Amino acid sequence: MENLSTIERILAAKQSLPGALLPILHDIQDALGYIPPDAVPSIARALNLSRAEVHGVITYYHYFRQTPPGRHVVRVCRAEACQSVGCEALATHVQSALACEFHATSADGDVTLEAVYCLGHCAVGPNIQIDETTLHARMTPEKFDRLLAELRSKP
Ligand code: FES
Repeated sequence: MENLSTIERILAAKQSLPGALLPILHDIQDALGYIPPDAVPSIARALNLSRAEVHGVITYYHYFRQTPPGRHVVRVCRAEACQSVGCEALATHVQSALACEFHATSADGDVTLEAVYCLGHCAVGPNIQIDETTLHARMTPEKFDRLLAELRSKP
């Protein structure tokens, strides 16, 4: 299985590093979009950890997904500077527009919604990020609705 060979390759490259678990989890998620639950036994074996320890780290960090993401990932910054300029109202609107909560995917599979705690552009909040690379500053509910319509119109 393709996922399995990707995981084995990442384990072989990183398992001997000190503190290898987090780099391995990041690499797997970068490669596959999530950490497949059936990867846990291989990771545990490679690092001489229990499955519970590996699972505990995956579930501790909201960043790690245990299911494949939607076609797009929207991250809403909910850290302090963005809070001071209305990110919580924006977050409520985004959840309503997508009809899903944080750490979930819209029913049509288009968008996975995640929270993030600072995107490094605090002076121009509220900020959201779409698909790892695209930052949108001074976000408003109206701007978000336009962006969402654009996202959904792409093939
Ligand atoms: S607090 Fe939102 S970008 Fe820093």
